[in-house]
Amino acid sequence: MEINSNTKLYGLIGHPVEHSLSPLIHNYAFKSLNLNCVYTVFDVLPEKLEDAVNGVKSLGIKGVNVTVPHKEKIIKYLDVVSEEALKIGAVNTVVNEEGILKGYNTDVYGFIDSLTEVGKKIEGRKAVVLGAGGASKAVCVALALKGIDSIIIANRSVERAKDLSEYIKKEFKIQCDYCSINEVKELPEIDILVNTTSVGMYPNTEDSPADEKVVLKAKFVYDLIYNPFETALLKHAKKNGIKYSNGLSMLVNQANYSFKLWTGGFFDKNLVYRYLKEGIT
Ligand code: ATR
Repeated sequence: MEINSNTKLYGLIGHPVEHSLSPLIHNYAFKSLNLNCVYTVFDVLPEKLEDAVNGVKSLGIKGVNVTVPHKEKIIKYLDVVSEEALKIGAVNTVVNEEGILKGYNTDVYGFIDSLTEVGKKIEGRKAVVLGAGGASKAVCVALALKGIDSIIIANRSVERAKDLSEYIKKEFKIQCDYCSINEVKELPEIDILVNTTSVGMYPNTEDSPADEKVVLKAKFVYDLIYNPFETALLKHAKKNGIKYSNGLSMLVNQANYSFKLWTGGFFDKNLVYRYLKEGIT
């Protein structure tokens, strides 16, 4: 489809943004559905966020995704924010409806779908979540919504783990404990181990947020990282025959919910997976 005066513009607001896969996903999806839309990235420094949001409005940009470090701070500049996004305290998708900016969070349902894809039952299970930042919050909310029995949040900064665990307990009335990330090795058994920290991400691909002994206690390991596809943590799981999954599915699923908010319909997930796997490897 040729870019012309009817082309609708979408994008990603973040800093940094140059390694994002979102333009690949959305532009491929627009093309495959013959939609006259384009998705690009906007590298926005923290002090320019308000200007950028005003720019979205004044230029008539139809929608944006929001990533680190703006997900929380953007809320105060939006006109309407969904209940979920308010609950998580973070927005990752903005829809510009004729000048009214509406904020949503599609990370929670993106994560739920990615667990469903690998046939993971969540009800009644015990999860250990590594990390206590924004991504961890979305994962914990998703697990709680899907009926997890209990969560242990393990983080380098114990104070942050404590705050998040108190929030989850209060909001969802489930058992949610916390510990230092170094204490995970003392836990007896783990049904689902989720890494939400940036440890192991390119270029530090040798690093792992938990060692092999910890992974051995897990029945399933999910790493939110997708660059590399197989982190050191996932290699531990693979080596020991433990089921695992990387963050590509959450990325694609959350993108699909954003796509639906913008266009009214979903894209074909399997086509997009195939395209990404061929394109990246
Ligand atoms: P996000 O929105 O992606 O979750 P974030 O809020 O910056 O980003 O959180 C990053 C997470 O990775 C945090 O849990 C952080 O631990 P701290 O809260 O102690 O900072 C974790 N993290 C980042 N680098 C780490 C490292 N080298 N070792 C252990 N944890 C790390």
